[in-house]
Formats: sequence, structure tokens, C-alpha cells
Amino acid sequence: MSDGTDTPMKPLDRLRKVHIKTYGCQMNVYDSERMVETLTPLGFEVSADVEGADLVILNTCHIREKASDKVYSELGRLREAQALKAQSGGRMMLAVAGCVAQAEGAEILRRAPYVDMVFGPQTYHRLPAMVAEADKNLGKGQVDTDFPVEDKYDVLPEERLPAGISAFLTIQEGCDKFCTFCVVPYTRGSEQSRAATAILKEARQMVAMGVREITLLGQNVNAYHGEGPDGREWGLARLIRALAEIDGLARIRYTTSHPRDMDDDLIAAHGDVPALMPFLHLPVQSGSDRILAAMNRKHKVDVFRRVVDRLRDVRPDIAFSSDFIVGFPGESDAEFAETLKLVTDVGFAANFSFKYSPRPGTPAADMGNAVPDAVMTERLIMLQQLLDAQQEAFNRSCIGRTMPVLMEKSARDPGQLVGRSPYLQPVHIFADASLIGHIVNCDIQDLKAYSLFGSLVSGDSMPSSSQPFSSQSGKSQTGQSPPVDPKERACA
Ligand code: SAH
Ligand code: SF4
Ligand code: F3S
Repeated sequence: MSDGTDTPMKPLDRLRKVHIKTYGCQMNVYDSERMVETLTPLGFEVSADVEGADLVILNTCHIREKASDKVYSELGRLREAQALKAQSGGRMMLAVAGCVAQAEGAEILRRAPYVDMVFGPQTYHRLPAMVAEADKNLGKGQVDTDFPVEDKYDVLPEERLPAGISAFLTIQEGCDKFCTFCVVPYTRGSEQSRAATAILKEARQMVAMGVREITLLGQNVNAYHGEGPDGREWGLARLIRALAEIDGLARIRYTTSHPRDMDDDLIAAHGDVPALMPFLHLPVQSGSDRILAAMNRKHKVDVFRRVVDRLRDVRPDIAFSSDFIVGFPGESDAEFAETLKLVTDVGFAANFSFKYSPRPGTPAADMGNAVPDAVMTERLIMLQQLLDAQQEAFNRSCIGRTMPVLMEKSARDPGQLVGRSPYLQPVHIFADASLIGHIVNCDIQDLKAYSLFGSLVSGDSMPSSSQPFSSQSGKSQTGQSPPVDPKERACA
């Protein structure tokens, strides 16, 4: 493809390196890992930096305006790296994947003609064919954003590569809820649940490679309704119970759930499956019934309150995080005050709040009645102050407690390890690296920023789990280390 600078492009004839930059939600992190797995059999290995790469993939997010804007500025930078590589006789293929690719398709090639491949979340299993095509047809940008008839999971390599101590596993994808502000039903397609047998097999493989904590992923993960090994439809609770039987799998989480899909069985599972962690991300978006209706969230505020109460009844130590949007079209001061009231009443341990961002093609974008940006900023600051204070109070309440911590990797300070509490807080302790991959009891003594600091409970220098683990790095194959920091989880 001509990039307008007439730089010569040569086919690749040696070991190739791929660099993937991942934006957006955890599902993109999982997808990036699966992309690497499609490329490994072709002789690709992961490059930590752009400069050394023969193929650079941006796995993008379209959720808010700022998130998608990042793609074009990053492409501008990559164009320079591509030109520099061409000057020394090399070639750097550029690919745009993920939700911006799905939403914008050929428009990306129009704005950035030096891009070689554009493909969506449902077509990345075709990546090897696209790379082969790019090798043959240099300079011809390809776009593949179909919603294909084949299921990508039938085509993706069965063998997973090592994914660290804590890893993601997609069980459900897409969304049929069509909240009026949201692009996901358009970028990910309709709701699809994977068969439980395939999920259990993948989970067992992951555990055999050292994974101790699995976060089940779906845009509407608790709407999961996959075929079970018994031929019947399984819900999320049934699947969680089966996963909890896997020897060596110590912790199970799931995200993102919708308040409407918290059924009785799932609530009960929180009470009787010890591996299910007592920390739930349950987005509510607003504390106003009128705004929830305008958002097409399909439930009232009281439904959310009831779900929280019922979960607290069965699991008293459960904590919650949520997503909030401020400045949805027409949101009044009084309606925003209802959000503040809900937050005050419920109390959250971590949070994500966003200014409403109109997304092309979504119903809310045509509603008019925009809330002025200055008002949105004011509301966001107020909400974040309240949420930050709750998070700080929650973190501080952990000081003096003993917590089971899953040790994940070495920290920056020599001799120190970092792990995660049941509430995903990073916990730093001085301990031997042999504890990576084990759950140890820690006395929590201090809090700095969002991290807890503590020490091994005396007499607990031996791992509390006898399960041996091979992975020492705590890093996944794409060099990322899920779960992402709570403050980073939000999609840009
Ligand atoms: N499936 C999840 C949310 C996925 S998107 C759910 O139903 O809750 C993650 C978060 O991004 C949303 O919860 C919402 O808070 C935020 N978000 C989505 N679209 C947005 C928009 N147009 N403007 C601002 N925030 C948005
Ligand atoms: Fe988007 Fe979640 Fe609503 Fe689906 S349920 S449309 S993913 S906000
Ligand atoms: Fe897509 Fe996830 Fe962003 S589904 S739009 S990458 S939040």
C-alpha cells in the first residue's frame, strides 16, 4: 500500500514479531491473547516494542469519543515508525482491530491509507489469512468486518499459551440490550454464549498452565445461557459451580453483569461457592428512574438496590463497584442528585464514572437536550469525589485485617511481591518469589494510593495451597498483567 511517501515495501522472509496495543475492556485483552495464538503457528513472536515489530495491531475501543480518537493519533505515530523501518529496507504491517475497526471499517483506510488490515472482534480468527494476503498483495489494504457465519472459537487454536496467574476467559459476547447510549450491540454483535464444555476445557487448560484465578468475561456475562454437557441450557451459576470443581482453580470472578440478569441461582452461588470472590462489578449508570428508562436499562433503581441487599444477605463481606454516566441527555440537577443519593446509600468499594459521550448511530445521540459540558464536568467532579472517598474508606477499613492474597509477581522493590486481595486491591509484601501463584494470608498494615501493604501472617511462610505452579512471571503472553488496575479498567 502506498503511504504517499513512496517508501519501498518488501515481503517478510524471517522470524516475525508482532506488537499488540490493547485499548478498552478486558474482552479486548482476552482477544489480543487469542490473536497472538493465531499468529504463533506462523512463526510470530511477541515484541514488547513497536520498533522491533513486523506487524503492529491496535486492538481498539469505541465506547466513548476519546477512546476512539486515540486510534487516529496512535496511527499517526505508527506511520512514522513504519516509514523509518521502510528506510532501512524493512516492512511494518499495520492492523486496526477491535470495536473502532468494526464501527468504522473502510473509513479507517480512507483516513489512514498506510494501514494494511482492518478487522473486527468477530473476524480476528482470519488473521493468518489476512497476513498471507498482505504478504502477497503489498499495499492493498484489507477490510474484514463481517459478522461471519462461522464461530471464531471453532477456528481459533485449541491450545492456549501461558496466561499468567490471573487470566480472562470469554464465555459470552455481544449484547441484545441496546441501551440508548451504547455502541456495543453494534460493534460486538448479538448476544452469543459459548458451550459450557468448551469453556470448561479452556479453563482446565489454563489451570494446567498455572492460572489460579479466572475472570469470566461477557458484555452481559450474567445473561450467559450456553449449552451444558447434559444438552440442557446452563446459566452462569451452573457454569460457575462446574468451574469451581476444577482442582487448582482458586478464584472465580465475572464481569460485566447487568442488574436485571442477577437471577436467584446466581445470587445463591455467591453464598455457597467459596471460590466466587466477594467483589462484584454491577453497573447501574444512574440513580434516577426517568434516566434509567431513557437509557433503556430495563430496570428501576429499586431493582438494583434489592439485588445489592440480597447479595449482602447471602455474602455479608461482598463489596461492589459500578459504572455511572453523568450528563445523559436531559439529566436535571435533581436527577443527578438521585445518583449521588444512591451512591451514598449503597456504598461502593471502587468505581468508574464517565461523562456522557454521544456515539454516532446510537438513539441517545439524536435525543437533543444535551447537558452542557461545563455542567457535566461539575457533576463528574462531585460524583468522583464521593466515590473516591468511599473507595479510600473501604481501602482504609482493610488495615488491621488479615486477607487471603493471591501472589502474582515480583514488585518493583527488590524482595517484594505483589498480589491481589479478594477485592482486587494490589497487596505488597516482602516474601520469597516461590510464593507466586499461591494464596497466602497477609496482615494488612498500610495503604498508599490504591495499594495495600502488609506482611505474611507469622507461621504462614508456607503456601496455603499445595498446588505446584510453573508460571513465575505473572505476565500473560501479550505482556499485560490482568486483572488490570481498577483505575485503568475503564475503557479509556
Ligand atoms: N455491559 C456493561 C457495560 C459495558 S460499557 C453494562 O451493561 O453495564 C462500560 C461502561 O462504559 C458502561 O457501563 C457505561 O458506564 C460506559 N459507557 C458506555 N457508553 C457510554 C457513552 N456513550 N458515554 C459515556 N459512557 C459510556
Ligand atoms: Fe451496552 Fe451494557 Fe447496555 Fe449492552 S447492556 S447495550 S453492553 S451498556
Ligand atoms: Fe468494544 Fe470493549 Fe470498548 S466491547 S467498545 S472494546 S468497552
